[in-house]
Amino acid sequence: MAVTTRKLIEWKRKQRPIVTLTAWDYLIARVLDRAGVDVILVGDTLAEVALGYKNTLPVTLDEMIHHASAVCRGVNNALVVCDLPFLSYQISIEKAVESAGKILKQTGAAAVKLEGGSPDIVATIAKLTAVGIPVMAHLGLTPQSVNILGYKKQGTTDLEAQRILDRAIAVSNAGAFAIVLEHIPSELAAIITDKVPVPTIGIGAGKSCDGQVLVTADLLGLTEKQPPFAKSYTNLRELITEAAESFILEVKEGKFPQT
Ligand code: KIV
Repeated sequence: MAVTTRKLIEWKRKQRPIVTLTAWDYLIARVLDRAGVDVILVGDTLAEVALGYKNTLPVTLDEMIHHASAVCRGVNNALVVCDLPFLSYQISIEKAVESAGKILKQTGAAAVKLEGGSPDIVATIAKLTAVGIPVMAHLGLTPQSVNILGYKKQGTTDLEAQRILDRAIAVSNAGAFAIVLEHIPSELAAIITDKVPVPTIGIGAGKSCDGQVLVTADLLGLTEKQPPFAKSYTNLRELITEAAESFILEVKEGKFPQT
């Protein structure tokens, strides 16, 4: 049975960890889905890992839709969530509904993710949920605010920690079905996980979260620079280089093709 947002909430109650990875194309999504990943996030980090931008800000709604459609064509079982890119939802609630609606209508994704927990964003989450668009929230280090926050750990002072906790409660009350917690102290993530009824999905937020997410390019060892909390489970950069070098050699030496 395909993964649903309700299933994720049930898994939190049963303490069944939720496994999330990002994807940006059909091939990767198909492999991750067959491997048994629960949630596939078409994250706006695709701006960096697939499109070569230096941060997530330049990626457009149409580019997200293009990639999310390809991902959805490769997925049978996982819940596909697509990021709302920078300025596709912050300007007004109407704009957010239009952008999120376009994603659901045109890609096959089942939900959207957006960053932040200010009162405006909380109202946006409530509206999206009310019109039938499930929302995954994202708190802590929110990369779309890189020009204000940088990439440093968030919630390290009592004041900041309290603000993130308050925002987690607010986005959950507004209807978010899950909350990504990025680069915050594990003690704070544990408190939030305990206080909200919806699953927390951590990235650099410690082991108490209800699930974990990694950027797949980091998981595969494709990225040259990784955040301190990422982990590579293989080194595809080396493997691809070796394969390409072998091909170059065989072609130059006339060994491929054989006849
Ligand atoms: O865009 C993304 O890949 C993300 C993950 C880091 C959670 O938001």
